[in-house]
Amino acid sequence: MVDNGVSTTHVLVIGSGGAGVRAAIEAAEHGPVVLLSKTIAGKGGCTPMAEGGYNAVLREGDSPELHVADTLRGGAYLNDPALVDALVREAPDRVRELVSWGAVFDVGPEGGVAQRPFGGQQFPRTCYAGDRTGHEMMVTLMDRLAATGVTVVHESAAVELLLDDGRCAGAVALDGDGAAGVYLADAVVMATGGGTQVYDISTNSSSGTGDGYALGYRAGAELIDMEMVQFHPTGAIHPYDARGRLVTEAVRGEGGRLLNRLGERFMARYDPERMELSTRDVVARAIATEVLEGRGTERGGVWLDVTHLSARQVEERLPIMLEQFLAFGVDIRTEPMEVAPTAHHIMGGLRITPDCATTLPGLFACGECSGGVHGANRLGGNALAETQVFGRRAGLSAGRSPVREKGVTPGIDRQLGALRRRFDGFRDGEVPPASVVRRLKETMWCGAGIYRDRGQLAGALAGIEVLKHERLLARTDRNLLDCCTAANMLLTAELICRAALLRPECRGAHTRLDPSCELPPDRSPYAHTYLSTAGEGIEEVAR
Ligand code: FUM
Repeated sequence: MVDNGVSTTHVLVIGSGGAGVRAAIEAAEHGPVVLLSKTIAGKGGCTPMAEGGYNAVLREGDSPELHVADTLRGGAYLNDPALVDALVREAPDRVRELVSWGAVFDVGPEGGVAQRPFGGQQFPRTCYAGDRTGHEMMVTLMDRLAATGVTVVHESAAVELLLDDGRCAGAVALDGDGAAGVYLADAVVMATGGGTQVYDISTNSSSGTGDGYALGYRAGAELIDMEMVQFHPTGAIHPYDARGRLVTEAVRGEGGRLLNRLGERFMARYDPERMELSTRDVVARAIATEVLEGRGTERGGVWLDVTHLSARQVEERLPIMLEQFLAFGVDIRTEPMEVAPTAHHIMGGLRITPDCATTLPGLFACGECSGGVHGANRLGGNALAETQVFGRRAGLSAGRSPVREKGVTPGIDRQLGALRRRFDGFRDGEVPPASVVRRLKETMWCGAGIYRDRGQLAGALAGIEVLKHERLLARTDRNLLDCCTAANMLLTAELICRAALLRPECRGAHTRLDPSCELPPDRSPYAHTYLSTAGEGIEEVAR
């Protein structure tokens, strides 16, 4: 089965978004590194698509204490404070580092990296490069990566972690032809990004299929807060093929107004103080409520309007939005955009320490596949900062891991045998994975959306169970990866629903219609939900 042979390395990084590439750059200081990329490295994942910006405390008037307070309040106090502290303290150095490596951010009137307001901030701290910030970062990171000795394996996806003596010892990957390769390593960094492709409408690139959650869970690592799925308030809803595409928060940061069908600036009803720059959970619920109560547009959205801004401001600060909507036949300088919530980010993920160690020895995690930084709701702009802060930390921890003897032990051989049988099962299957994925997306959109209750979640879980019993079909070896991906999506969706059932309260992005939520989030009796092959539950706050 191992057509691509067995490779050994000191550190194996899985994922080539902002976090994975930053981790590889750091780990390369300590020994040989292999970076596995499901796509052409640097071109896939969510970082290059990230439009809005990068949060960092850079100016007088702002402070780490304010950034921490905003992040905790935005996260409904479910965040791990040690992770928030690391994010806030190191984000400024990491953005300066990107600039020193050649990243071209917009420059503010008094010099230095320009910053603008994003939701939930007490100070405008979002650094940006127009509305293509992630792209600028990714290009810079790929240049830097090219100057290291990292071996980049393009278009090869990890499908299973390998365990040896209770440690993560590497991974098996499939390339586009369905050929398997074994990568043995002293330490593995999981940086596979998120998984909101399990929803019908999502901002995620096609690689956002939850692979890191699924691989980590199957290998025995613990995940936390998987119920916390962020619906970005503003995704495109028309034309049909562009449904869910991100309409950056920078539009509201530049002064964009949300209007319902009646022309009301409805955020005044939901957060009169912060209005359109409230946190995403609040704005997404507000839009969903306007639509549910009959004040939405005919297509089930609301209007996002920048026509009161000067054409120059739109052209200079939001060039990608202008271009994107012109392609849809809408000139946003003179007409409003039609938008609705879209699944965007999973705040939960692999439980990590501030050094990015997961609960599985030898496995580190960073970026969206890890959990705890953002609590119950992420602030816009904190994800790009997270990729750099925790990418570097994960690379450092993995790089410093002791060198071990590496080989295909009897234990690893047994895992390869099990994988071979799994692949044989796919070859004998009956149902194309695309059909299962389509039904899964509908199930999740209807059963585990912005508003959810016990009945809907249990129904979604039952639907997922039915889909799990479909026998996935790989017509050729090239389809083996599609089958593995569909299985990962099913598991990710199941984890979201199970975790959502575990949390009997409304908190941040998790809005249960059935429980009463009398306590403010900072006095909730509950902490993280957790899931692993060893068990699941919800932690209670020690008081
Ligand atoms: O709206 C946006 O530009 C997205 C930013 C983010 O998710 O951080």
